[in-house]
Amino acid sequence: MDKRIITSDLLVDEEIDVTLRPQYFKEYIGQKDVKEMIEIAVKAAKKRNESLDHVLLYGPPGLGKTTLAQVIANEMDVNMKFVSGPTVERTGDLAAILTSLEPGDVLFIDEIHRLPKIVEEILYSSMEDYVIDIVVGKDAGAKSIRVDLSPFTLIGATTRFGDLTGPLRDRFGIIHKLEFYSDDELKKICKRTASIYECEFESKAIVELAKRSRGTPRIVNRLFRRVRDFADILGDGLITFDITKMALNKLKIDELGLDNKDREYLIGIIEKYNGGPVGLDTIATSISEDPTTLEDVYEPYLIQKGFISRTPRGRVVTEKAYRHLKKSYQGALF
Ligand code: ADE
Repeated sequence: MDKRIITSDLLVDEEIDVTLRPQYFKEYIGQKDVKEMIEIAVKAAKKRNESLDHVLLYGPPGLGKTTLAQVIANEMDVNMKFVSGPTVERTGDLAAILTSLEPGDVLFIDEIHRLPKIVEEILYSSMEDYVIDIVVGKDAGAKSIRVDLSPFTLIGATTRFGDLTGPLRDRFGIIHKLEFYSDDELKKICKRTASIYECEFESKAIVELAKRSRGTPRIVNRLFRRVRDFADILGDGLITFDITKMALNKLKIDELGLDNKDREYLIGIIEKYNGGPVGLDTIATSISEDPTTLEDVYEPYLIQKGFISRTPRGRVVTEKAYRHLKKSYQGALF
């Protein structure tokens, strides 16, 4: 059967590099436990000839939530329709999508925590009973008609699990958090990318790329493409260790994958607030960044690295971060 991602025109600013995306579980690297659990659920649903239970995937951006959803749809041998939460403004938009689904199809809703409340509410009956109630007519003539839907699977993705409402969260049968990838897993992803692009590389170059990609496949692939540009223009196309280091240094990505914004955030807290504790909104204003972006995109990796901690009184920069940034910590110089 021909498998397609159907991207509704309600969407799409997501960078979809279709050529790099794994299509099946066997090509999907990392997230071992999550993959194992989902693979079993997929096999069981297929064996029983049922649609897969609804799936919620959460975690920082770039860790492969969309990719995994596509793998699930491919493995189930169904189509996937793809929309982004904030772009579905009216209940009618969602009703149109839901009624167009064929039995077993996957509806992927990215940033599901940003669905407008009234739109979210029609998801409840569709997830639970595969029906929606549509109001037709106006005022005294208005009446509600019940429309049956094909059994389908909703796959929701979010960077903010805590922002989901209870009723929505409770309707997912399969809930998993995606974790940052190990350097070894990123090396495998990078080698796979190199082979798809037919690029030769020194193995030390791939080690370096993995090390500086903050545990994130989207970043390792993006940096790989930048390094490949340097290798094509400054060399003969071979991705060497020296070219990789030079390119990453020019991109201002340090040994641990921190970029300018990470450093600005940490140094801002150190210099303006004596290392914290300081509230998120205060930091965000002081470095002209949106607090949600800091919280969803920057902080998860800094927390994982042990560079900041979240306390009830605000963010605190740790001694480890002072060392990494070569800043003096409580009088001690590194
Ligand atoms: N590309 C992006 N994410 C990936 C993953 N988890 N496995 C393989 N290739 C990927």
